[in-house]
Amino acid sequence: MEVSGGGGFLLLLFVVVLMPRSATVLLADAARRTLTDVSSPPAPSPAADAPILPGVVVSPPTAVKIPTEGDNHYQKQVLVAVILSLVAVIVMAVSATYAWSFWRKAREALDSKDMKLQNRSNGHMLLPVLGKLNSNKMSSKEVIAMMDFSVLETATDKFSEKNILGKGGFGCVYRACLDGNVVAAVKKLNCCRQEVEKEFENELDFLGKIRHPNVISVLGYCSHEDTRLVIYELMKNGSLETQLHGSSHGSALSWHTRLKIALDAARGLEHLHEHCNPIIIHRDIKSSNILLDSVYNAKISDFGLATYGGNHNRDDINPSGTVGYVAPEYLLDGQLTEKSDVYSFGVVLLELLLGRKPVERVGEPHCESFVSWAMPQITDRTKLPQIIDPVIQNTMDLRHLYQVAAVAVLCVQPEPSYRPLIADVLHSLVPLVPVELGGTLRVVEQPRSAG
Ligand SMILES: Nc1ncnc2c1ncn2[C@@H]1O[C@H](COP(=O)(O)OP(=O)(O)OP(=O)(O)O)[C@@H](O)[C@H]1O
Ligand SMILES: [Mg+2]
Repeated sequence: MEVSGGGGFLLLLFVVVLMPRSATVLLADAARRTLTDVSSPPAPSPAADAPILPGVVVSPPTAVKIPTEGDNHYQKQVLVAVILSLVAVIVMAVSATYAWSFWRKAREALDSKDMKLQNRSNGHMLLPVLGKLNSNKMSSKEVIAMMDFSVLETATDKFSEKNILGKGGFGCVYRACLDGNVVAAVKKLNCCRQEVEKEFENELDFLGKIRHPNVISVLGYCSHEDTRLVIYELMKNGSLETQLHGSSHGSALSWHTRLKIALDAARGLEHLHEHCNPIIIHRDIKSSNILLDSVYNAKISDFGLATYGGNHNRDDINPSGTVGYVAPEYLLDGQLTEKSDVYSFGVVLLELLLGRKPVERVGEPHCESFVSWAMPQITDRTKLPQIIDPVIQNTMDLRHLYQVAAVAVLCVQPEPSYRPLIADVLHSLVPLVPVELGGTLRVVEQPRSAG
């Protein structure tokens, strides 16, 4: 049943003004009569005059009142008043619900009109749009601001080399200065392949729906001829890959910072696996897709290959991902579950421990994955402290090192059912990360020895 706005209002007016009034009049009348009864003196009872004997308990006399025709009339009036009041309350509730739903529909219509207008304009209004990215129902591209190519050209100084933050398989990522002082990262995809177009659409689709502190935020997009651009929040410390394998060789990442990064990435992944409905499988977890802000908060990026969980088979989805990070059952049989992401996460955890790339050349043309060569040493407590990244050697509690190594080894088990859920990984990392970095570990300062 649909009630128009005007009809609903008239109904509401009737209910609010007339219904309670008639009920109130009846109730007041009934009450007045009842009060009149109570105020008139009671008829003398014979028992009241009888002498009371000591030790004898006299029960108070019970007034037996024979209902008169008048009493019946009052009772009927009270009943009618109560029924009318009930009806009034129900009708009020129904009318209020209709009025509320009408108001909501009108507001949604107004919002989507605003959004379309904004998309047609030059997309300068990034910030108001951010608050609206949380919708899971709307098509995400509708809620992400479309930006003008010329605005991005100006913001990146015509995509100048000096603004390049990094290079990916499909193009470069540039530092951009929007509106004077809003900095952002712009990924420019040279879109001559269908694959790129698909990843671009996928990226916007997923990132438009997900809002989580450990998942990168997308600020806008642009389609210009053959070029596709995505605008993200700028992550000042780049990717985990550049931190570990770039010029600083991991020297900026202490033991606790590395664990914090692992914990943040696990939190982002847990959100995808446990709190999204349907669940989301990222399919491309790797160190270059874990980005770090100015204080090393980590966020998962690149949702171009992401997909919803469910029963996938080889025909549904082409196995994709990055060599060294892809789970064996997915690579060989196309079997895709959230445990594929857990495998890739385990590889990143090993990368953080060892400070080495997952796949390295061991003489032309052979490559070897550390999941195979390092396994015997990682599982040996006497050898483990010697093979970890020299930058962090002897800087941690060894018990914590054994614990993290054990988690990593479980994550990269060849059999997916032996791997833990990301929620379990998360719970085992939390106690190892200091409170001020988002975990529960309380680090006690060792007193310095005198001299
Ligand atoms: N939002 C961002 N803020 C800062 N730097 C970024 C941002 N996004 C990407 N980068 C940098 O740009 C690099 C390239 O990113 P991109 O996602 O294009 O490729 P990739 O992940 O390295 O590789 P692939 O193309 O195989 O996914 C990243 O490694 C990172 O250093
Ligand atoms: Mg990337």
